[in-house]
Amino acid sequence: MEIVIVHDIAEAGSIAGAAIERLVTANPTAVLGLATGSSPLPIYDDVIQRCQTGLRVEAVTAFTLDEYLGLPVGHPESYRSFIKRVFTEPVGIADENLHSPAVNDEGVEALCESYERQIEAAGGIDLQILGIGSDGHIGFNEPSSSLGSRTRIKTLVTETRQDNARFFGGNLDQVPTHVVTQGIGTILEARHLIMIAAGESKARAIAAAVEGPLSAMVPASALQLHPHVTVLVDEGAASQLKLADYYRSTYATKPDWQSI
Ligand code: F6R
Repeated sequence: MEIVIVHDIAEAGSIAGAAIERLVTANPTAVLGLATGSSPLPIYDDVIQRCQTGLRVEAVTAFTLDEYLGLPVGHPESYRSFIKRVFTEPVGIADENLHSPAVNDEGVEALCESYERQIEAAGGIDLQILGIGSDGHIGFNEPSSSLGSRTRIKTLVTETRQDNARFFGGNLDQVPTHVVTQGIGTILEARHLIMIAAGESKARAIAAAVEGPLSAMVPASALQLHPHVTVLVDEGAASQLKLADYYRSTYATKPDWQSI
């Protein structure tokens, strides 16, 4: 696992944006996994800027990590609407190349199975962007999620609903209780995972994920099992890392030829 402590979160956006540019330049039909929420916005903004100066990502296929259940289609806070607004539309990824778990008449279980098959049919995810919940969740795999879990329905814990109430006018009652999320096992199959976190409110979760024991109680600790993980954190999110100085010196002395 590579931990990069950045001066400000725009730098994290630029490091991840450069990795996306390298990937898509080498493989224009690459498959991206997209997290929603506030954390990845600097990455999406950076890629939007790169596209304004020549990068082409129209042939990319994208999969969202998760989706609320119970919001009407097209609700502005559905994760499909969100990711279209902040990333796929500005960079020119067509609607048909954006996949998200969408409930249909077949019901939730068939939808989850079908989402797994869609990812498989696309050849798997090359690069997955991740945020982290203040309780250590990735996707919407809340604490106690099976480390081998696949796409399925989950119930949000109150802390997560409180964290996300800001997107629903601060009204907790408006935040759905249920979601469909890629499982931890699904996420671990992506070829490169980039996690981004900013601010002290994420420090405890980051320290537990990176330096704590592997545990279903900290779903993000499952990243320790993956061969290619990059964790981008600002000073606030890094503030509880015991080996922070080691991570700083490792990145400062990284060979020029070695990308993240
Ligand atoms: C959303 C997702 C979640 C968020 C996490 C952090 O697609 O996968 O795991 O990344 O809840 O949210 P923010 O970034 O808003 O703090």
